[in-house]
Order: sequence, then structure tokens, then C-alpha cells
Amino acid sequence: MSDSFVLKGTVCYSRSFTEIAVHPAAYVVCEEGVCRGVFDALPAVYEALSLTDFGERFILPGLVDLHIHAPQYPFRGTGMDLELIDWLETRAFPEEAKYSDPDYAETAYRQFVDHLTRSATTRACIFATRHRESTELLMDLLEESGLVTCVGKVNMDRNAPEPLREASAALSARETRLWLEETAGRYQRTKPILTPRFIPSCTDALLEELQTIRQDWNLPVQSHLSENPGEIRWVQDLCPEADFYGDAYDRRGLFGRDRRGQSFPTVMAHCVWSPPEEVARMKENGVFVAHCPASNTNLASGIAPVRRYLEAGLKVGLGSDVAGGHTESLFRAMTDAVQVSKLYWRLVDPEAKPITFPEAFYLATRGGGAFFGNVGSFEPGYEFDAIVLDDSLLPHPQPMTALQRLERAAYLSLDLLGLHAKYAAGRRIF
Ligand code: GUN
Ligand code: FE
Repeated sequence: MSDSFVLKGTVCYSRSFTEIAVHPAAYVVCEEGVCRGVFDALPAVYEALSLTDFGERFILPGLVDLHIHAPQYPFRGTGMDLELIDWLETRAFPEEAKYSDPDYAETAYRQFVDHLTRSATTRACIFATRHRESTELLMDLLEESGLVTCVGKVNMDRNAPEPLREASAALSARETRLWLEETAGRYQRTKPILTPRFIPSCTDALLEELQTIRQDWNLPVQSHLSENPGEIRWVQDLCPEADFYGDAYDRRGLFGRDRRGQSFPTVMAHCVWSPPEEVARMKENGVFVAHCPASNTNLASGIAPVRRYLEAGLKVGLGSDVAGGHTESLFRAMTDAVQVSKLYWRLVDPEAKPITFPEAFYLATRGGGAFFGNVGSFEPGYEFDAIVLDDSLLPHPQPMTALQRLERAAYLSLDLLGLHAKYAAGRRIF
């Protein structure tokens, strides 16, 4: 299938952090997987490309989920009356233990990939489980889907029940190296990402092994950070030498910069309670925040001060964090980000202005997209990810602007009712 084509419709993308550009009846051009820009009249040089006219439907950049747990998808929307550690022990760990069985993993991961494929997400950073075989199966399915993803075999060698805990740091490292060797060169769109679950799950010896593996394979890193007050106290007990939670990763060269001073992409989920020193280190090391408002609400973790992080110059994107979050809908994540920022402003910090809808749209597209490179916009040179949305299911007696229609489609999670079409890295997914 050709990855050069033209789409026509109501094209919207973030022109800046605060403004969504709207181009009705416009053309967006993809040449060899790369966006050539948005045009109100199609330039003659592109007239030979095949054109798909989507009428008044929206054409939007694909959305980026910076944090989602594939094996937790089966129990999403249940157990939502617990806090993080109890929820992990009674919900997440027992479910994840099932992925030692490849048959279970295949059934569950097929359902997950199927739903993610039909969602508005074109790119995602995904946690699997500690199991090598089922992680590879997940990667095979994702590659087939055409989505662009980073997938991590999880590392955890302490504080988990027997079937889920890896027996030693050495064994966890060996399995990780095997996973990397077995998948090397196997995929175009599916990349490995180093995934120490969080500090309470990883001994010092394991973190040390992982930093060597990271350097050897030049891997990006994903993990959890400063999510819940009890978790943070636990990390202080486990790592008294660390100045703050993020420092426990940084000391092991797993926080955006290795011991040689070289940078690598790192994304930390949550950062609800990051102290100023942690924010400063994230800024210095270029660490991304995956803001997961639904999860932070469901698990009573708190409200991440995203406005403060943006003012501090941090890189921020959105995460669904299924199944701490109950839905893979990134439309929902956008509107949750707006809503919780208003509660933060009203209840916590009157100086922290609420996030606007255009700002949330930016976070879900360009904000998270930056983790993958030039992703999340229709400006020339961006990788071509797009979703086509039909909002005719939401008729209105009054005139509405395209921006109003878009905001309403997000608030009503129209992405869950089905998109019209989807493209990732220049390929039509459906
Ligand atoms: N911290 C460690 N593991 C997890 C997880 O699976 N979900 C969330 N939300 N936080 C975690
Ligand atoms: Fe998570």
C-alpha cells in the first residue's frame, strides 16, 4: 500500500500550545510517511497523489498514550475503590501473574490490541509483564496492528508475590537480555523500552544490571514516579541515600541521563507529588511526565500540578494508565486533565491556572508525540499519524464552530463509539 496520499476534511492540529488551527475543507498531504503540510488549495505538485475526501469529518493528528498497562486491560473499570498499594496487591499483581500462561496472554492481548487499534491512539508506551514469552507475543500483535509502540518487559525482583517476582536480579537481567536478543530486528514499529516497574519492585542490584543493559542496547526507559504518598514514604525507607524518589533512578543512570552524561528518552508516569528538586532534575535530564488524571483520581493518588510542570519547562504528555485508569480513551484523558486542573486551582493553588481544552489537545498530540520524535502535528516534516472522526452522531439545532464540535466530541468520548479511519506512520490502519 502506498504511503503517499492526500486527505481532505476539517483539518485541526495544535498551531501552538494554546491554539488549535482549524482548516475546513482543507488538504493534508502525506509523502512516504511524512506530512508535507496542510493546504486550503492543493498544490499542483501533489495532484497526482491519490485523494480521499472525508467531507466535513475531522482529520486530527493521532493521539499519543505515554503510559498504559496491556495486561491490566481485562480488569479495567473494576477495583476502583482502592489506593495504589492495595490495588496492586489485590488486583494488578494477581491478573499479571496469569501471563505466565501464553494461551491466556494470547487471548487477553488480542483483545487489548484490537481495542487499542480501534481507539484514537496511534502511538503508545506500553508496560507488559515480567514474562518474556507473552511480552514477545504482545509485540508481535502490536506490530501486526500497524500502531507505533514502545513495549517493555517489566522488571521486578522484590515486593511482589512469588509467581510474579523474578527470583533474582541476575535472572531478571538474563531474561531482559534474552528478550532483547530474541526481538532484535524483528519489528519496524514496535520498539523495546526498559521497564523497571517502580523503585519498590526493584533491588539496587537489579537497577545496576538494568543501567548496564540500557547502555549496551541504547534503550529508552519508562517507569512510575511520585504517585502516592504511602509509596513515596516506602521509597524513602528503601533508599535512604536517595535525595528524592527520582534520585533513586538517577543514581542508577535510569533517569534521562546515563553515567557518561548521555541523554536518552525517559518517561515517568504520574509525578503527582514531585518536590521542587525532583522537578528541577527532570527538567535538567529532559524526563517526560506522563500525566494520568483518570488513574490519579481512581486510585486517590491526588492531582498532578501540570500547570506548574509546564511553567517549569517540563515535557508533558497524557497517559491512560489502564487499568489504574479505566479507559483507553485519550479524548477522556484530555477532558480529565482539564477537569482535575480546575479542582487543583480551586482547592489547592489559586495561582495554578486550569488547563484549557486546546492545551489538553496539545498534550495528547504534540506533548506526548515529542517522546517519539517529530510526532503529533501536521506541520511539514512530522511523521504522518492521523485519525478521522465523524461527529454527525451528535446533531445540533444551533450553529457550532468546528472547535466547539471538537471539544464536545472529546467531552462525550466520541472516540469510543468508533473512528472513521486511522493512519499511523503513513499507513492506513483501517
Ligand atoms: N506503580 C507500580 N506499578 C503500578 C501500576 O501497575 N499502576 C500504577 N498506577 N502504578 C504503579
Ligand atoms: Fe501505571
